[in-house]
Amino acid sequence: MTHYQPGFANHHATEAVPGALPIGRNSPQHTPFGLYAEQLSGTAFTAPRAENRRSWLYRLRPTANHPAFTPYEGAPNLKSAPFADAPPSPNRLRWDPLPFPTEPTDFVDGLVTYGGNGDVGTGTGVGIHLYAATADMVDRAFFSADGELLIVPQQGSLLIDTELGRLEVAPLQIALIPRGIRFRVELLDGPARGYVCENYGALFRLPDLGPIGANGLANPRDFETPVARYEDDDRPHRIVQKYQGSLWTTTLDHSPFDVVAWHGNLAPCRYDLTRFNTINTVSFDHPDPSIFTVLTSPSDTPGTANCDIVIFPPRWMVAEGTFRPPWFHRNVMSEFMGLITGAYDAKEGGFAPGGASLHNQMNGHGPDQASYEKAVAADLKPVKITDTMAFMVETRFPVRPTRWASETPTMQLDYDDVWRGFAKARLPQ
Ligand SMILES: [Fe+2]
Repeated sequence: MTHYQPGFANHHATEAVPGALPIGRNSPQHTPFGLYAEQLSGTAFTAPRAENRRSWLYRLRPTANHPAFTPYEGAPNLKSAPFADAPPSPNRLRWDPLPFPTEPTDFVDGLVTYGGNGDVGTGTGVGIHLYAATADMVDRAFFSADGELLIVPQQGSLLIDTELGRLEVAPLQIALIPRGIRFRVELLDGPARGYVCENYGALFRLPDLGPIGANGLANPRDFETPVARYEDDDRPHRIVQKYQGSLWTTTLDHSPFDVVAWHGNLAPCRYDLTRFNTINTVSFDHPDPSIFTVLTSPSDTPGTANCDIVIFPPRWMVAEGTFRPPWFHRNVMSEFMGLITGAYDAKEGGFAPGGASLHNQMNGHGPDQASYEKAVAADLKPVKITDTMAFMVETRFPVRPTRWASETPTMQLDYDDVWRGFAKARLPQ
């Protein structure tokens, strides 16, 4: 049974034991039950109030109580940008679904990095990973010191225990785990696969709505944050951390999930993508896909995101006199796409759930020929696109694929062929 508190980046207060949360001050001389008070900062102390994110944790032992970290040998393909191990390709890239491992593999060891941009060391850009897991994490926890993690399950529901509470996350839901928060993933219904966007930059936030008004797109109350939940468990627990692209491990003599109470506005949350209030044209033309933005990580250039998370949900298509699928284009931003379920309306085949595509800066792309011909011939009655959910990581810098992603046999070497054979337009004779 899980319990949640509504709202995005709200100031929450929650205690798993009555009286555990200090009242009126953050760090009293004597805390309730002798719990250790600890601040977790997601922004600089001096960030403007509207952007300042931090929480106070009250725990059985301080996080500082751990032996030195040593290099971790698992997850050899989990990395951070910048990537220089493969040349940047000017080509459009697409991958078949990530296969499941044949040996029992948990969420951490099942992570592989497809690409990224920016530089983890200077807090710009993103890392893009997929996971394919067949086993629970047992007596171990993971955290990234490199960025917040946006987890997009594609197959299999996840039970994510975090220091701040428990999240259940099924396909068509997403989870957002702040930088530094320890978490453990168990598989609720068999093998699990999905995508992870690791955001090195400014924290994800809800996009401004401009003329849309006060409501629409992802509504704040639909984000759900767990209540405090703790384990009083003195068995050894292994911690794996990702730090500047390398993995390190240490062993605690207790569970890291020992936060009895917490308050603040930096916490993990989940969001149900089917609650997205999709807004689109009711006249003509296909709006820019920014209309489908769920969360955005701004950069220091106004309107130019370090990263946007965009979805393509079920929706009515009613535009008149319009080529309805996403149009042909070249973009100064770069686009990494994944498919959670169904089919994407610009691709008739080849882009499968659990697969991925990458259209980098100035790559010409758009509908494949089959989708194009179908759309041009369509009788433009209102049509509902059902049973679909694609998503896009749209980011300001080109995404450099890792060597693994460049060499994996799941890369489709014939992807360019989907745009071959378009007939020449006919000018008047
Ligand atoms: Fe595009």
